[in-house]
Amino acid sequence: MMYSLFRPILFSLDPEAAHAAAFAALDLQAQLGLAKCWRGSVPDTEPVHLMGLTFPNRVGLAAGLDKDAWHLSGLAQLGFGFIEVGTLTPKPQPGNPKPRMFRLPEHEALINRLGFNNGGVDAALPRLRARRVDVPVGVNIGKNATTPIERAADDYLAALAAVYATADYITINISSPNTRNLRDLQAPDSVSALISTIAREGRRLARLTGHARPIAVKIAPDIDPAAINDVVNAIVEAGADAIISSNTTIRRDGVTGHVYANETGGLSGAPLTALADQVLKQVVKAVAGRVPVIGVGGIRSVEDARRKLDLGADLLQVYTGLLYRGPGFVGDLLRGLAGR
Ligand SMILES: Cc1cc2nc3c(=O)[nH]c(=O)nc-3n(C[C@H](O)[C@H](O)[C@H](O)COP(=O)(O)O)c2cc1C
Repeated sequence: MMYSLFRPILFSLDPEAAHAAAFAALDLQAQLGLAKCWRGSVPDTEPVHLMGLTFPNRVGLAAGLDKDAWHLSGLAQLGFGFIEVGTLTPKPQPGNPKPRMFRLPEHEALINRLGFNNGGVDAALPRLRARRVDVPVGVNIGKNATTPIERAADDYLAALAAVYATADYITINISSPNTRNLRDLQAPDSVSALISTIAREGRRLARLTGHARPIAVKIAPDIDPAAINDVVNAIVEAGADAIISSNTTIRRDGVTGHVYANETGGLSGAPLTALADQVLKQVVKAVAGRVPVIGVGGIRSVEDARRKLDLGADLLQVYTGLLYRGPGFVGDLLRGLAGR
């Protein structure tokens, strides 16, 4: 209710300025213990046990909103059952030149080409270590823009080693459209080699630290439908513990003619829903119960969330829906899903 008053003010600002203002307000409310008011009262649900972790509910925050892990307390107070930070890269990097994020309010959508703007994995570690939230926190890792694609594995291994002891799970992001050639890593042969190498390093780090951390792989919705089965098989056989389906799309279905439709970047929100659902369905079939699947892409209502669970997603993540629906969105989803 209150968010409908604030939204026009936030939406009058440049998207990145609005992001900063919204988080400044949320952090303040979190410090005062008030951010949980947005969630409202939610019926108790059975925790979900997956990948050796306990999730108080199935609704998580997708990567990219809190890239540098500055806002964990406020986000946890909104009711999320898990939070994914990142994408973090081994070295800090500024991302692409601005403007690089565009709102399409008529479509409840965003186009972004942020390009992994982040302070680097080492800078986020102290905040991750000091976190006082009682939900799993995943760390999504990627490669620096300046690292040649042939050396991508070096970046993933460096970031994995840095966050391994601190993350509850780690996501390998090979699906952002905004880092040149990154999505080429999804080709079955490449993905098999990359994920095997990462999984092997994960097993070594598990022995070293005494804790095994699950490794999820996040894929794009733009993989050729005929190849999804092979790609997913390669990822699971290489040792991944979960698949996250999916990232943003480079397609523009449903938004053609919009003033921002030709901006380069990944499209998220309502126009992604149908494509993400279609890909999710294929991913669930290919996975065949071997590992959990996290469904993400265009969730903006309880019906969208329910449909993804019905398609076989074990957990959900949201991003763009939260920006359009406001901080009460998580509580709304939890109430709508209660009893499932
Ligand atoms: C502005 C913006 C930045 C994002 N940054 C990342 C990122 O750094 N890493 C990542 O894996 N996904 C990133 N995503 C993708 C989201 O995590 C999610 O997969 C996608 O937006 C689809 O979900 P949605 O329709 O609920 O937003 C980003 C999305 C948006 C809109």
